[in-house]
Amino acid sequence: MKKVVEKNYVVVLIDSNLKKIIVDTAGKTDKIKGVGVFDPKSLVGREYGKQLEIGNKKFWLLRPSLLDKLQSLKRRAQIILPRDLGHILINCSIESGQTVLEAGIGSGSLTIALANAVAPDGRVISYDIREDFIEHSMKNIKKAWLAHYVSTKLKDVTKGIDENDLDVIILDIPNPWKAVNHAWNALKVGGYFCSFSPLTTQVESTVKELEKYSFIEVKTFENIQREMVVSNHGMRPSFDMLGHTGYLTFARKILPP
Ligand SMILES: C[S@@+](CC[C@H](N)C(=O)[O-])C[C@H]1O[C@@H](n2cnc3c(N)ncnc32)[C@H](O)[C@@H]1O
Repeated sequence: MKKVVEKNYVVVLIDSNLKKIIVDTAGKTDKIKGVGVFDPKSLVGREYGKQLEIGNKKFWLLRPSLLDKLQSLKRRAQIILPRDLGHILINCSIESGQTVLEAGIGSGSLTIALANAVAPDGRVISYDIREDFIEHSMKNIKKAWLAHYVSTKLKDVTKGIDENDLDVIILDIPNPWKAVNHAWNALKVGGYFCSFSPLTTQVESTVKELEKYSFIEVKTFENIQREMVVSNHGMRPSFDMLGHTGYLTFARKILPP
């Protein structure tokens, strides 16, 4: 059966350079960056997978995947990239129905991956100390059709965590060690802690703090990813390699002896 664009959902338009633009089919006629002026409602009923022409440009029309949503978000702060997001989801065992807290929200990249994983019955609570980041990230999260699973708080996570019995807490802030005590109190037994830090000094302070509390499986990783380019001449690693992003530290709460 043909799969066609339904009303009131989002689609992704992918141009010939593989640039991705998420479009809300219920939106009004407007100038859309990378597309030009057009009426998104005109996409309703079109067949997914087909290439279509808008103005003088060609686009593939698809139902947006999680990766499309992540790759098309508008960045303000440094975001957590897909290669690290995948690692977080597995190492914290994040699944549907869970309650996950993160700080800070930044541009909402991690929030989108978390909301997608905990949906439809779970929720993500996001703290940030800057209202402008909350507003900016919520625009990205709404565009990804995941706002229903996210609630935000203008709050400094190093000053305390209001919630308890949380499945997972993830910190992407400059000083995660300052929230380790609050994280231990707010996590359920068996719950996971994760911090993302670009510097080794930040990791050291966080691990030292984690060791003061009842956590097991304290581990730090760095992910290095190399894309391979395959052509008629053979295969080689891509010349454009993104080296360092950050270190991921994980720990799991247990009861004190
Ligand atoms: C690097 S960005 C987070 C990026 C985000 N994880 C993403 O993937 O898009 C860091 C964010 O942490 C927020 N922040 C810094 N210190 C904080 C704190 N103590 N409590 C809550 N948020 C904080 C900043 O305002 C900023 O938005």
